[in-house]
Amino acid sequence: MSQKFLPDGLSKVDQLDFLSGEERKFSRQIQGRTYANMFGFVERFIVAKILEITRGHWLGDQIALEALVRFCDEELKHQELFRRIEPMLAAGMPEGYRFSISLMRCSGCTAKMHLGRAGPDP
Ligand SMILES: [Fe+2]
Repeated sequence: MSQKFLPDGLSKVDQLDFLSGEERKFSRQIQGRTYANMFGFVERFIVAKILEITRGHWLGDQIALEALVRFCDEELKHQELFRRIEPMLAAGMPEGYRFSISLMRCSGCTAKMHLGRAGPDP
């Protein structure tokens, strides 16, 4: 918990002159925790999308299918990484943090991704 969790170049917290040194560090930690949660969220969409792409290779190019399946296997490891990070950070930070995007609420995002767009329904 002595670390920033996010580099200054991404954080930009240093530009907030009204924060003390400890407040800046804590703000970077919140940003880093959110960054980790966002990436964990994105990793789930990557696997869903790649599995969708495999469909075109199920009975065709088995090398392409294997490559996509192995890619998913790596992405599943990333998901596990982010699942482990959140409770570790939660254990060291004050109560009250919430990352509120849910996959259920974003089920429309998958459909939009299929059309080449990402985001909530208009
Ligand atoms: Fe990944």
